[in-house]
Amino acid sequence: MTEKLVEIKDLEISFGEGKKKFVAVKNANFFINKGETFSLVGESGSGKTTIGRAIIGLNDTSSGQIVYDGKVINGKKTSAEQQDLIRKIQMIFQDPAASLNERATVDYIISEGLYNFNLFKNDAERQEKVSEMMTQVGLLKEHLSRYPHEFSGGQRQRIGIARALVMEPEFIIADEPISALDVSVRAQVLNLLKKFQEEKGLTYLFIAHDLSVVRFVSDRIAVIYKGVIVEVAETEELFQNPIHPYTKSLLSAVPIPDPILERKKELIVYDPEQHDYRTDKPEMVEIKPGHFVWGNKQEMAAYRENL
Ligand SMILES: Nc1ncnc2c1ncn2[C@@H]1O[C@H](COP(=O)(O)OP(=O)(O)OP(=O)(O)O)[C@@H](O)[C@H]1O
Ligand SMILES: [Mg+2]
Repeated sequence: MTEKLVEIKDLEISFGEGKKKFVAVKNANFFINKGETFSLVGESGSGKTTIGRAIIGLNDTSSGQIVYDGKVINGKKTSAEQQDLIRKIQMIFQDPAASLNERATVDYIISEGLYNFNLFKNDAERQEKVSEMMTQVGLLKEHLSRYPHEFSGGQRQRIGIARALVMEPEFIIADEPISALDVSVRAQVLNLLKKFQEEKGLTYLFIAHDLSVVRFVSDRIAVIYKGVIVEVAETEELFQNPIHPYTKSLLSAVPIPDPILERKKELIVYDPEQHDYRTDKPEMVEIKPGHFVWGNKQEMAAYRENL
């Protein structure tokens, strides 16, 4: 029996007030099972990081719920609840160049969470945790006294991963963990994340803007378009039987290794203006077991005909 670790229910996230209010995420609905890798995929500016930051409490939500392990975690929390969540949910940030404190040593960066939560009995134990983590992510003990600017992009990403994992979290939000890296080190970082998942039973929310990247790491995938989750399905189901036209357009942009087929391929373009959502309102519908799609009654009828 699969257990849900995270549930996002009718979530809305907005920035600014009054006329300047900008709704970055609307009506988001999805869940993440314990122990799985769930990917959130969409183009730049679609709201992926915004959702990740809301789950760890860095963005306020304007309506709906974020449920973690059965408890609502958006909105008011006691400081004990807050502390508990900060430890259990860690984020690997999108830009390893900007997310590390440039004036702190690697030793301090990785230890910061341990200091904040008193997660060691004495300094020897802290040092042991940190050096063990360094080894696990493939960095050297000599690196501990150095500063982030002395490292390559791939190494910085490893520092970011070490900083998150040293907290022994249950759930990791990995925001485009490999997109800033050279192709040659991407597989290494993905394998590292996979290794930790197998060893520690971690659950991942993996954020990416490219479907081809997530195919081989994800159990299930959600596609987001302009702040709206348009489709959620198991990975192979999504690739074999995409339903929403935006998912189809993303898939048509994934290159085919055969040059003849690739040249004949027609790119699909999604036109969101073709449906009237004022009178016939869209919602997330489980159109097949485990396969969810966003649309109004008219769209749903058309999708059902083509199942
Ligand atoms: N703090 C903020 N204040 C105002 N607008 C914001 C803020 N954070 C994000 N946004 C806006 O919300 C939208 C979604 O941004 P977000 O960073 O979540 O996109 P993303 O899907 O992560 O894109 P990328 O792939 O480029 O990282 C964008 O239009 C962005 O400008
Ligand atoms: Mg982002």
